Amino acid sequence: MPSDTLSLLEANAPPNPLELFAQWYLAAQAAQILEPSAMTLATATADGQPSARMVLMRGFDERGFTFYTNYLSRKAGELAQNPRVALVFHWPQLERQVRIEGGVEKVSVAESDAYFRSRPFGHKLGAHASDQSEVIASRQVLEDRLNELLKRFHENDDVPRPEHWGGYRVLPRTIEFWQGQANRLHDRLRYQRIDGGWKLDRLGP
Ligand SMILES: Cc1cc2nc3c(=O)[nH]c(=O)nc-3n(C[C@H](O)[C@H](O)[C@H](O)COP(=O)(O)O)c2cc1C
Repeated sequence: MPSDTLSLLEANAPPNPLELFAQWYLAAQAAQILEPSAMTLATATADGQPSARMVLMRGFDERGFTFYTNYLSRKAGELAQNPRVALVFHWPQLERQVRIEGGVEKVSVAESDAYFRSRPFGHKLGAHASDQSEVIASRQVLEDRLNELLKRFHENDDVPRPEHWGGYRVLPRTIEFWQGQANRLHDRLRYQRIDGGWKLDRLGP
């Protein structure tokens, strides 16, 4: 889809940014972008050192955006110290970026269980095998762990969710939509959560 057919005007912006996100996410899926759910997740330590990495968004609704990870990882440690994050989606074929900032909470145990159950067998074992973010002696350590797990569990077994693996929900306070336009006159619409509603502003590109 050429970018000149895509516009981002206040007149077409719904009052709720989650609605606009849903439209854009559908468009990203329709454009067959590789991993449209991939997003950069930025966290920071209590004293303000930021770090960023990619994660996959596994769902979104009125409450926020969920991803799954290891609760003992570096990012989890930073979230425990400082439960504030930023997310960035980039869908280059559509010349679109979405930036999200806000707080974060763990999803319920039931939600993590349900999502873990839906994962492929190999991914379930991978969650057990990896001490995410820890220094390990060699790749062999991972292979050995996986082989041990393959002795304990078989394809159709009910693999339990590791207690240290689960979801987080990012609770958006700001969501900005960026649409590339000709002559660098890009559109930027920013929604901010204020008094239970959403305030909309246009920002300079
Ligand atoms: C496209 C992509 C998607 C990823 N998705 C996830 C994910 O959903 N969850 C996760 O824990 N790590 C995911 N990773 C790995 C993370 O980027 C990162 O290496 C890992 O979570 C450890 O980060 P940390 O040490 O900062 O905690 C993904 C990496 C890439 C490149």
